[in-house]
Amino acid sequence: MNRSQAAIRVSELKNAINEHNKKYYVLNAPAISDFEFDMLLQELNTLERMFPHLITEDSPTQTVGSDISTESRAFRQYPHKNPMLSLSNTYSREALAEFHNRIAKTTDRDVEYVCELKFDGTAICLTYKNGQLFRALTRGDGTVGDDVTRNVERIKSIPTQLSPVSSGQIPWPHEFEIRGEILMPFSSFRELNALKEENGETPFANPRNAAAGTLKLLSADEVERRSLDCFLYHLIADIPGIDTHWQAMEAALQWGFPISKHRKLCRDLDQINEFLDHWDTERTGLRVATDGVVIKVNDFSLQRSLGMTAKSPRWATAYKFKAQQAATRLLSVDFQVGRTGAVTPVANLQPVLLSGTTVKRASLHNADQIALHDIRLGDTVFVEKGGEIIPKVVGVDLEARPEDTVPFRYITHCPECGTLLERDPEEAKHFCPNRWGCPPQIKGRIEHFMSRKAMNILGGEALVEQLYSKGMVKDPSDLYDLNPDVLRSLDNWGDRSTENLLKSIEASRSVPFHRFLYAIGIPYVGETTAKYLASHFGSLDNLRNAPEEELTQAPEIGEKISSSIIQYFRDQRILIMLERLRAAGLPFSQSADESARVSDKLGGKQLVISGNFSHSREEMKKLIESHGGKVISAISGQVDYLLAGEKPGPAKLQKATKLNIPVINEADFLRLTGEIPPEGTVFEAEQQTTLF
Ligand code: IVH
Repeated sequence: MNRSQAAIRVSELKNAINEHNKKYYVLNAPAISDFEFDMLLQELNTLERMFPHLITEDSPTQTVGSDISTESRAFRQYPHKNPMLSLSNTYSREALAEFHNRIAKTTDRDVEYVCELKFDGTAICLTYKNGQLFRALTRGDGTVGDDVTRNVERIKSIPTQLSPVSSGQIPWPHEFEIRGEILMPFSSFRELNALKEENGETPFANPRNAAAGTLKLLSADEVERRSLDCFLYHLIADIPGIDTHWQAMEAALQWGFPISKHRKLCRDLDQINEFLDHWDTERTGLRVATDGVVIKVNDFSLQRSLGMTAKSPRWATAYKFKAQQAATRLLSVDFQVGRTGAVTPVANLQPVLLSGTTVKRASLHNADQIALHDIRLGDTVFVEKGGEIIPKVVGVDLEARPEDTVPFRYITHCPECGTLLERDPEEAKHFCPNRWGCPPQIKGRIEHFMSRKAMNILGGEALVEQLYSKGMVKDPSDLYDLNPDVLRSLDNWGDRSTENLLKSIEASRSVPFHRFLYAIGIPYVGETTAKYLASHFGSLDNLRNAPEEELTQAPEIGEKISSSIIQYFRDQRILIMLERLRAAGLPFSQSADESARVSDKLGGKQLVISGNFSHSREEMKKLIESHGGKVISAISGQVDYLLAGEKPGPAKLQKATKLNIPVINEADFLRLTGEIPPEGTVFEAEQQTTLF
């Protein structure tokens, strides 16, 4: 490769890595695996070593990824006292041996290491003052992080107040920092995703994204509900009597911090390798996600003399496990049709043990992926289970391909109703257009209508199956004409369940308008968009009659959603269903209360206002209340924000600063409540999930 070719490739790699960094850290929606990402970074590193003149200060090899969301000013940002670095990493034992040799050369003493698990969550930096949790910052860009203290206080394993130590133990210092990883245990992750799927929301890809997304929620109550967990692994303090990382962790354990017991002091490479071998397989039994082992020099003085690069310490490295893979035979392919008509190919596999569970089925994504990997029936395929719940087919063992295989022919017709499938050139998936005659679409729409965040009607898949197969419910409006006697006669459906079902149907007549709007299943209109549409248009008739330009030009909606809304109301059968729902007394417009309530962005938050604003005091108060917030007069520990205009009261400002209460100005406030959108914001069409 010559200099100009290298320059082009380096620039391509930088752009790609920056883009993936944003998807990973800010959007919590990675598009490629960690391994693929590390390979891009490694290629860039190699090229930069060959052509050092191409290294720039902002190269991703010189900086750490940032989790600070530029579009959200919901969290106050504070600088880190010590930069939050990343770790160098490797997938090979040889590179690990080089790491050890490099360190061994710098000292004539034996080097001792601590091996510990590399937890796959989101990094957190906790500051304690006088034994009290003072502040919790995310990694941010490594230099400045988001203040998520209010949310971290709701994580049970993190102490907010340290107990005094018993005699003979090393006391905690007056002020110190301790860092670690916030995690979502697999069990909470499964529960959360099940709920999301039930509500037609996009599930989180893996527990790491779920933990990072949860930590940045505005509602601390919701954070608590999601049961996050934490392991701490880095104490930053100069404490007499603590000279090694091992001692620091032991002391932190005594002070009440969650420190993983899966650590080992290793005196040579063999002992390190033993630890790696053990956890490469054993980690699958843990209740939280891990993606490797971190190997740290134990002795603080050696750590100090090794120092660090701009990006990572020289005294530690991460050995990453490859995502668990298994090879097995592809027996057949099923095609599942979801409520929106999207078709998902699913592989039926020769059962194989992977990460502690037997895998029989795995996702094949879409027709393009099958073609890309040239996956054929009878092939030996590789299945992988990253942090994700649903395993996926990631490739083919071409050497093991039997002679008689033929290229896979994707279906052309719906497996459920026989209709010719369609494919939007911009969508990777095939769709069945037979909205009104394709059973899984009809049943899926009824289930969606009844789901918890929509109309909250009791029942579920089994009930819908019975009601549909007996011809009792063909669309959601039939639910309001159900005959109790016929219901009682259903299999496994006694008096009690009939009562409860009828009660929940009755209660559904008074859900807020935005939930009804979400329930009727306009493609791409998820919960958030439904809320926006409800408050913007006020009624279903207004939305239906809105001039096309009003929809297409609303920056919050975007083209995909607006054309979906227009299409929806053009369907005569939808209009008939809606008229029946109107006759059943469902909420076709916002109540007076709802119209006053613009959003729940400040739900339960307490604000103190001080100073002059561009609106009057009374108007500001109304605005806060319209977003679910409450205005109170005095600053106390309970206050969430001090909203400071021009010339705020100095006493209030001082007290807020002392109590570490975020002080926001008028523009921050308007952005926080969505009154002014961050520049260039377009609501993403909310992804529909297929029933898998
Ligand atoms: S030590 C200065 N120990 O992995 C070094 N990090 O990919 C501080 N991580 O930024 C980090 N488990 O967020 C350390 N046992 C462990 C870890 C760990 C997970 C994370 C951490 C770090 C990232 C690097």
